[in-house]
Amino acid sequence: MEEYILTTKDLMKKYQNKVVVDNLNIQIKKGEVFGLLGPNGAGKSTTMNMICSITRPTAGTISLFGKDPWKQKKEVIHKLGYIPQELAIHGSLKAWENVELFTSLYGIKGEALNTAVEESLEYVGLLGRKQEFAKNFSGGMKRRLNIACAIGHKPDLLIFDEPTVGIDPQSRNFILEQIKTSNRNGATVIYTSHYMEEVEAICTRIAIMDNGKIIACGTSEELKRLVTEDGESITLEEVFLTLTGKKLRDYID
Ligand SMILES: Nc1ncnc2c1ncn2[C@@H]1O[C@H](COP(=O)(O)OP(=O)(O)OP(=O)(O)O)[C@@H](O)[C@H]1O
Ligand SMILES: [Mg+2]
Repeated sequence: MEEYILTTKDLMKKYQNKVVVDNLNIQIKKGEVFGLLGPNGAGKSTTMNMICSITRPTAGTISLFGKDPWKQKKEVIHKLGYIPQELAIHGSLKAWENVELFTSLYGIKGEALNTAVEESLEYVGLLGRKQEFAKNFSGGMKRRLNIACAIGHKPDLLIFDEPTVGIDPQSRNFILEQIKTSNRNGATVIYTSHYMEEVEAICTRIAIMDNGKIIACGTSEELKRLVTEDGESITLEEVFLTLTGKKLRDYID
């Protein structure tokens, strides 16, 4: 039997009578790098926030490691590493203090905490800069520190919400490589983005989301074959255009 880490059933979120996540049904297996691809306002962050028990669903269900994340938050939270779209770091703390603060929230103490902080900073390539204040970091370094803060407790599922927006190519490649390494080491990953090349490069399966709905889901070859006989000769961008009638690039900041 296949082991699903996450199953959503008719998951829905409404804000002021506007449906922003519309009957979402997704299943993610252990070991996948699952991509959620969609333009601004598609509902990606709202979906991730519901999975991470930050936002309460209006209707539908989520099973995360066999639990309801909203009702059984304490039983799932330590298995999750959530890297939010908005930076969650403190500028007035040093890099290592930021990682220590977030990691300690999971009850990790003493020598184990010191080790976790060092390993997390090493993971994002900032160990040599650990004594510097976060406010003095470049955009790419802040993004990397944001990641370090979310992984110290060694989560089984890593959720990245657009971790590469507005950063230098070097930091971007570094982050993508580290995500692949984490996956090889056993972590399941959900990767939210509107960059098709990134999603295609690292994801085993991709869900295309638009207007709150998943409009197609599969490997990049499967998605391409949805709109052409010879799946190889088109790009995911063209798949998106054919399925939605929209050019993805026109709908991103
Ligand atoms: N707290 C809120 N109150 C009201 N509307 C909201 C709230 N959060 C999100 N929305 C709306 O829900 C829709 C989906 O937003 P969401 O942030 O989930 O999209 P997204 O796919 O993450 O977009 P982006 O790529 O810009 O991050 C948008 O129309 C947004 O304005
Ligand atoms: Mg978002």
